[in-house]
Amino acid sequence: MNLTDRPRRLRTDGIRSLVSETNLSATDLIAPVFVDATTDERLPIESMPGHERVPVSEAVARVEEVLETGVEAVMLFGIPESKDERGSRAWAEDGVVQKATRRVTEETDAYVITDVCMCEYTSHGHCGIVEDHAESDPTLTVKNDETLALLAKTAVSHAEAGADMVAPSSMTDGMVGAIREALDESGHESVPIMSYAAKYESAFYGPFRDAADGAPAFGDRRHYQMDPANAREAIREVTLDVEQGADVLMVKPALAYLDIVRAVREEFDHPVAAYNVSGEYAMLHAAAEKGWMDLDETAFESLLAMKRAGADLILTYFAEDIADAL
Ligand code: PBG
Repeated sequence: MNLTDRPRRLRTDGIRSLVSETNLSATDLIAPVFVDATTDERLPIESMPGHERVPVSEAVARVEEVLETGVEAVMLFGIPESKDERGSRAWAEDGVVQKATRRVTEETDAYVITDVCMCEYTSHGHCGIVEDHAESDPTLTVKNDETLALLAKTAVSHAEAGADMVAPSSMTDGMVGAIREALDESGHESVPIMSYAAKYESAFYGPFRDAADGAPAFGDRRHYQMDPANAREAIREVTLDVEQGADVLMVKPALAYLDIVRAVREEFDHPVAAYNVSGEYAMLHAAAEKGWMDLDETAFESLLAMKRAGADLILTYFAEDIADAL
């Protein structure tokens, strides 16, 4: 046997890290934080072990915990005190995200990103205004163009509260452009937009919908979120968001969509974010609890794979645990 090329030579402990192609660091990570206006104590989220919904009064303390691990950015989600057809608590000056954002930006050094969507705020749980009789007619869906104005108002209210970045997640056509224009007109031209640009209609969001109380009361989201069967369409979606002024391009979910992360990385020069969603977190926890896999190792490997596929930033419920381990 005459083996001149032996890749194993570069796998010894001394050289492994020198030749490693991908690095994961705490500063790549964004930790989601749930702020709940309906409670005055911290409530554990059952399907997402280690995560909680916290009242506004605990938002600063919760974010400080994140910062202590070395993670520098958070994504705020809100659970409002009440819901209605139009989701009017989404853009209220004294809304839950607005109040939490004001406190967290004033009292901590965290980079604060806010999720801009309607589904936690509407009584029907859809990501915008629904058509009349949508409840009984499954062909009816969210009114796209009327929803744009509400998303724009919501994003501006977050910026007014001090948000460093806004992240629209409703998959409304034109959402990035509408938000960019409204931010610019209100003097927030320096607030960037991280668009949930290629967001799929995914069963991996299950635990989040418990956490944020945002499951649709009827129907599903397939009329506005992407079909998991489609990859070329992701490039079309992302192209539209780039044309409308998106600063960071997100693919969501992450693990089952690494081909999309890679495709977006290759096609665009913008920073790419991957959202390691609630179901991806829950499944590793469930398997680890049964003793079938090691939690820290599978979590680390998953996040490393996202970076290897081309993600620059990762939104993940593992942020604090992984940052601690690093
Ligand atoms: C709001 C939103 C969702 C998630 C992030 N923003 C839920 C959804 O679209 O149903 C999911 C996040 C996760 O599962 O971790 N539209």
